[in-house]
Amino acid sequence: MIGSGIEAAAFTSADEMRIRDADEVFFCVADPATVVWIKAVRPDAYDLYVLYDDGKPRYLTYMQMAEAMLHFVRMGRRVLAVYYGHPGVFVLSTHRAIAIARREGHQAVMRAAVSALDTLCADLGIDPSQPGMQTFEATDMLIRRRRIDTCVHLVLWQVGLIGELGYRRKGFLNSGFSLLLDYLEEAYGPGHTVVNYVGSRYPGIDPVIDVRTIAAFRDPDAQAAVTGISTFYIPPAAAAPVDPDTLRKLGLLGPGDVVTAPSGPLREIDRYRPRELRAFGDFAGFRVPAGYHWQEDTPGARFVLALRDDRGLRDWYTVDPAGAAADWGGAALNNRELALMGRREAGALQIAAKGLPAADERVRLLTTTLLSSTAAARGLLRAVRAAEPEDREKAVTQWAATQLGDTAEPEASAQVAADAAEAGRPACGRPVERTELEREIDAMLGQMLYPWTGMYLAADPMLSLFILGGTRLNGVGRIFLDGRPVLGTRYVNGTLRWRATSGNPANGQLRTDISPRGARRLIGVIWPPRVAPGTRHQVVALEHVLPRGVSLGGPAGTEPGSPSLGLPGWARPHLDAILASANQRRPDVGGLQYLRSWQRAAGNLRTVRAALSEARP
Ligand SMILES: C[S@@+](CC[C@H](N)C(=O)[O-])C[C@H]1O[C@@H](n2cnc3c(N)ncnc32)[C@H](O)[C@@H]1O
Repeated sequence: MIGSGIEAAAFTSADEMRIRDADEVFFCVADPATVVWIKAVRPDAYDLYVLYDDGKPRYLTYMQMAEAMLHFVRMGRRVLAVYYGHPGVFVLSTHRAIAIARREGHQAVMRAAVSALDTLCADLGIDPSQPGMQTFEATDMLIRRRRIDTCVHLVLWQVGLIGELGYRRKGFLNSGFSLLLDYLEEAYGPGHTVVNYVGSRYPGIDPVIDVRTIAAFRDPDAQAAVTGISTFYIPPAAAAPVDPDTLRKLGLLGPGDVVTAPSGPLREIDRYRPRELRAFGDFAGFRVPAGYHWQEDTPGARFVLALRDDRGLRDWYTVDPAGAAADWGGAALNNRELALMGRREAGALQIAAKGLPAADERVRLLTTTLLSSTAAARGLLRAVRAAEPEDREKAVTQWAATQLGDTAEPEASAQVAADAAEAGRPACGRPVERTELEREIDAMLGQMLYPWTGMYLAADPMLSLFILGGTRLNGVGRIFLDGRPVLGTRYVNGTLRWRATSGNPANGQLRTDISPRGARRLIGVIWPPRVAPGTRHQVVALEHVLPRGVSLGGPAGTEPGSPSLGLPGWARPHLDAILASANQRRPDVGGLQYLRSWQRAAGNLRTVRAALSEARP
C-alpha cells in the first residue's frame, strides 16, 4: 500500500519504482493528473473509484475494494495499491486488506506518505506538539459526543459529509452540518475561529484557508465551500495550567521556584526577549561540543543510500544481510562495518553509516592509560595548560606521540611510519588527534566500568551503590547495593543490569551518565522481584564526591565510619560493610585499595575530561 500524497502524483522515487515493478496495480486517487500519470506507466491498472456509486453505502464499497486486491494476492501475484494522501490515514480498505493478507500468510506492507494532516500543519503553521492536538472524524465526534479539549489544536475530518454513510458523485449534501456547528458552539462559543482547509492538489495553486467564526459558517454560502475534501482546524481557546506537583517530581521545579501562568493558549515562538537573546550572546564563545560528530562520506552511509535506490539489493539484504553487504562493498566496508551491516538492525546500521575508523589499538591504549593512571591524566592536563590556547589541540597530539614513543613532531610521523615499515616494525606514528581520544573515551565509558568506580547515593528512595569497576571491556568488577554485594551484574552499552533471579533481593537496570555539570550519576530503576517496575522504583544516584585533599592514609583510613569521607550518616554503615568485607578478603590492602581506586577513577576521569575540553578550539 503506498500513498500518492495530497499534491498530484507526489510519489517518492522508490514508490514510483514499486508501481512499475508490481504484477497488479490498483489506484484510488483524488485528482485526474495522478490518474493520468499512473495509467501512462501502468495502462493495466485498476481504478477502485469505480466501486463507489450513488446511494451505495461506502462500507460496501470499502469491502469490495479490499476484496479486489486480495483476489490477486491469493493468486500469488505481487499487488500494489496507490491511495491518495497517506494510504493508512482515514482509510478502511487498506488496513483491512493488509490485516487479512497477513492472516492468510502473505507479506503485506504499508508505506507512509503525506496526508492532509501533514499539509495542514505545514500550510497553517501549526505543530501537533505545541500545545497538543486532538483529531476526530466529525460525524463520529458528534454521535459519541467526544469530549473536546479546548486547550489543544482540534482537527476534524470529513466535515463535508456529516451523517452521510453513502456516496454522491455530484458532491455530498452535508445536511447534518448545522449539528456540527451546534456542537462546536457549545464547546467554544459562537465567536471562536474555525478554518475550512483544503490542501492544494495542483502545483502552483494555493491551498484554501477560509477563516471564519463558528457563527459565520451558518451562512449557506460559507457552507457551500465546505466539501468532501475539507478538513476543519479549530485553534485552542485557552491555555492549560501546569501542575506544580508533577513539575517537582520531574525535577523541573526547584524549591522556591514559581510557575508563571502562560500568556495565551499558543506559545509565542517569534519573539526576541532576553531569554532568546542569550542564545545569540553565547555564539561569541561558541565551541564545537565534544560529542558533535562530523559526518564524513562513509562507505556505510553509501550502503544505506544504495539500499534506498536499488530494489534488488534491498530484497537481497532482507533475506541475507551479511551476503548482500559483502557483495556490495566487500572492499569498501571494513570488517567491523560488515559485521554491523550483517545484523540488519537500525542501531547497527546507524553506527556503521557514521563510519568506524579501522580499530586503532594505539588510541585504545592511550585511553585506557588516561583513565587508569593518574600520572598520565595529569601529564595530559599539564601539557594542555602549558600550551598557548591556539596550540592546545596540537599539544594533545604531541603528548600522545610522546606517550606512544613516536616522534614529538607530528609532521615527521609519516617518515617514522615509513622507516618502521622498512625495518619490518609495526607501523606507528600516525598522529593521534584530540577528537579521536574524546570519541574513544566516550565509547569506553559505555563499555568499561572502571571510570565509574565510586559511591553513588540516591535520595528517594534512599539507597547507596558502590561500584568497583574492572578495566576489561564489558567486564564488571564488584557492585554493592546498600553495602551488600550484587550478583550476576552485566555492563553493556552504558547499562548496568542485574536480576533477582541471580540471587539478589531486587532487580536493577541503571544507565551510567555524566550530568551537564560533569558529575557521574546512575539513572534507572531498582525494583523488587515479581513486581512490574514503576515510578516509585525510579532511581537517580549521584556520585558522592570525596572531599578535596582527602587523605586515605594507611590502613587506618579504611576504618569503619571514617568521617573524613563526608558521607551522610545513613550511608556510612554501607561503606563500612563494603570495606570490612574487602579487608576480610585481603587483610593487607583490601579496603584501602577500594578507596584508592575510587579516588583515582573519579579524579582521572575529571582530569582527562577537563584536559580535552580545554584543548577544544
Ligand atoms: C477518506 S479521508 C482520506 C484521507 C487521506 N488518506 C489522507 O491521507 O489525507 C477523506 C478526508 O480527508 C481530508 N482530505 C482529503 N483531501 C484533503 C485535502 N486536499 N485538503 C484537506 N483535507 C483533505 C478530508 O477531511 C476528507 O474528508
